Formats: sequence, structure tokens, C-alpha cells
Amino acid sequence: MRWGRGWCAAALVGALVLGGCTQADEERFHPGAADAGDPYVPGAGNGGYDVAGYQLRVRYDPASDRLTGEATVTATATTGLSRFNLDLAGLTVDQVRVDGAPARHRRDGNELVVTPAHGLPSGRQFTVDVAYAGVPRPLPSGELGSGGFLATPDGAIALGQPESASTWFPVNDHPSDKATYDLEITVPDGLAALSNGVLRGRTSRGGWTTWTWSEGSPMASYLTTLVIGNYRVSTGTHAGKPMVTAVAAGLPADGPAAASIARTGEVADFLTDRFGPYPFAAYGGIAIADERIRYALETQSRPVYGPGFFRAGRPNTTVVAHELAHQWFGDSVSVARWSDLWLNEGFATYAEWLWDEHDGGRPVAEAFIAEYAATDWTKPSVDPGRPAMFGDAVYKRGALAVHALRRAVGDDTFFRIMRGWTAEHRDGTVTTADFVAYAERVAGRPLRPLFDAWLYGAERPAEPKPR
Ligand code: ARG
Ligand code: ZN
Repeated sequence: MRWGRGWCAAALVGALVLGGCTQADEERFHPGAADAGDPYVPGAGNGGYDVAGYQLRVRYDPASDRLTGEATVTATATTGLSRFNLDLAGLTVDQVRVDGAPARHRRDGNELVVTPAHGLPSGRQFTVDVAYAGVPRPLPSGELGSGGFLATPDGAIALGQPESASTWFPVNDHPSDKATYDLEITVPDGLAALSNGVLRGRTSRGGWTTWTWSEGSPMASYLTTLVIGNYRVSTGTHAGKPMVTAVAAGLPADGPAAASIARTGEVADFLTDRFGPYPFAAYGGIAIADERIRYALETQSRPVYGPGFFRAGRPNTTVVAHELAHQWFGDSVSVARWSDLWLNEGFATYAEWLWDEHDGGRPVAEAFIAEYAATDWTKPSVDPGRPAMFGDAVYKRGALAVHALRRAVGDDTFFRIMRGWTAEHRDGTVTTADFVAYAERVAGRPLRPLFDAWLYGAERPAEPKPR
């Protein structure tokens, strides 16, 4: 914006005020940052504003793979903005409006750069309407595989961590900026269009059905999902809240995936007993058949399970416990930066141990001993580096640290920490330092040395003494 500076200065010298450009404007308004500054996801997220909500209207035609979308993003400027970015990978933008007025826009790689007609003062709430269309493509994420919109023979699956959302809508694509979502997804009649939160309705017109979903609790963008295709959809209620589950039509109705997802309510109740109230307004789960998705993901209120988890031919509720535990650890209480991912994965892995013990499987103490002996201690749980973000140091070493805490403070204090942490930071974002401080506060004693050893130390810590 150097030319802008000179242009404003020239206007002032000439005692002219052109197009509202004054000395004061020039000092008040600056471009928002092009990313969130998280080294695990260069380019992802943006600076200068905070999104409150996304309203997305998306139409997808599996016959042509074409998606047309209208997104309304409601945000508040956190600094005076002359322009700002949204993340958008691929797709063509037809029009952008800011507060209803046409705004200039251009693309810069996976960024959509928006210059509103007037600067946005710090603290100002504004809306951005983006009309866009195209054939969405997954986003290559190097060593982490790819994330985002994947066309399938009968529809599509939009899913991925740490990045996915920007492949199908303009977004501030970083977990530090959570927001509510309202989604209208239009697909050919007969296909399901599944997403997060509460199903508000299904209406059909002219051969197309619109499925309306709303997620009223703040959600990190990587937790959004869109699953379109032939699915057996079940709607019901659990614990007074709506439950929507879906199993790909290609999977057997009485097979292990369907049987595992059918236990969602039971597993959620068990975790509620350990971690405190279920944090969201809906329950659910989606079993997909596409072999290219080799993981499960804790998409908010409705995890998506890849087919690999059910290969053994019998139900696998361990993965259900893992993804449902994330509803507390990761989805409701979210990481502010990816280097703290053990706060999600360590607790979700620990929840697997708790559930398996409860479900008649291996006791937690045995799980601890087995992993304690096997885990590689050379990598830290906190900030292991991007290529290791889904590695054992985060998942297993993280779970070992959780159990070491339990052994150090005793069951009573430990479960008070679990329940208090999820209550205090519900719908929030956190760091490792927040957790250590919280645990110390509840336990009433220093725990820094314990966490240093179990999360960061380069050697296996001594076995914790039972209390
Ligand atoms: N958070 C997911 C889970 O542990 C794993 C996602 C793995 N993602 C990936 N790109 N490998 O449930
Ligand atoms: Zn996980």
C-alpha cells in the first residue's frame, strides 16, 4: 500500500480529500495479516478480524462435480482494516460484498483478498458476502496427505485436519477463530447431504433437496464436514438432544461400522460421566465407505469414520470413544495453535483406555504399562514439528502424561481436573500452559516438573508412584 500512502499525502498537500482518503484514515487502516502465524500451517488463517458466524448456501451436483456457493461471513475487525484476506483454495469468485456494497477482490494463491470500499474501523462488525463456484479439489498438505473436498462416485466428502474448509468455502481457516455455522446444502433428490449440528429441515423442489444444518456452538473450521451421497440416515434423540447417524449405503446395514456407530449414545454417556456434560446440541456419526480416507475425524457433533476401522469384522467402539472424547477435548476446548495438539489427541487416546476398560477390555493400568514400555521418548508431545503432529509423541506420550497426572494427584482430583477444565474452557481456545496452570490450581500443588518430564523430557520418566 505504499502508493496509497503517497496518494493520500499528495491529496493532503493539495488540501483535497479525495474519496474519503484522509491522513487519519491512512493511519487507522492497514491490511490484515495473510495468515494466523502458525508455523504448522503456513498461509492458513488470517489476521485483523474475528469471525462470529458463517452462513453457507452450497449446491453440489455429483454429475458435474460442480459446486456453487454463497457465503455470508459475519466478523468484527480487531484492528483498522484497509483490506483483509479469507482462505479459499481453488474455485472462482464471482462477487464480493462488504456490508452490502461491492468490494474489490483478487486471488493470491489460496487467499481471497478483499478490499472494501471504505476502511473498517477496529471493533466494527461487518458482513462479507461471497458468491463463488467451481469444481472443488482437495488441498495437498505435503507429508500429512491431503485434506478437503473429495468427489466420490455418488457424491463428495469434505474432511481434513489441519486444513479442509477452504476447499469449499471462504474461511478464516485456523482453530484460533471459532465461529457458529448455518448451512444449507442442496443436492439431487435421493442423496443425503450431511453436516454438523442440528438438522433443521429437508425440503425438496424441482428435483433438488436442501438439507439445513446449524451448529450453534463455536466450531473450528477443520471440524466442519460435508458428506454427500447414498447413505442410510437415522434420526432420533439421545439424552434429550437430536441424534443423526448415517452409514454409507455401500456398507452392510448389519456390519461392524453400523454396529459401532449404533453405540454412540452409550459411549457419549460414559464420557459424560467422566468429563462432564456433553458440550453440543446434537449427537451423531457418519460411516463412510471411501477407502481413500484412512482416518476418523472428530467433526463437531458428528464424527466421520473411515472404513479402515471396521475391517476386523467386529464392532470397534474404541475409535468411537476416541472421536467422541474429542467433542470435549478439541472441539469444545480447542487448541489455539497446532503445536498444542496433544491437548486433543492425548486426552482422546486416554479416553480410549478408559472406555476399553469400562467395556470389558484392557484395564487402564495395563494400557499405561504397555505404552510406557513401547513409546519413543525422543520427541516431545508439545511442538513435535508439523510432520509429527499426528505421531505417537502427541497421541501415546500425551495419554501417558494424562495418566501420570492421574497417578500423581489421585482419581478424585484427576476427574475434578477433567470436569473443571472442560467446563471452564467450554467453547474456548487454550494452550498447554493453560492446562498446567489449571491442573496446579485444582491440585493445589506445583505440577510443572511432572509435565516437563512427561511432555517434554528426552528420556522416559521414572514410573509414577501410586499415591
Ligand atoms: N484427529 C484425528 C483423530 O485422531 C486424526 C486426523 C488425522 N489426519 C491426518 N491428516 N492424518 O481422530
Ligand atoms: Zn484424535
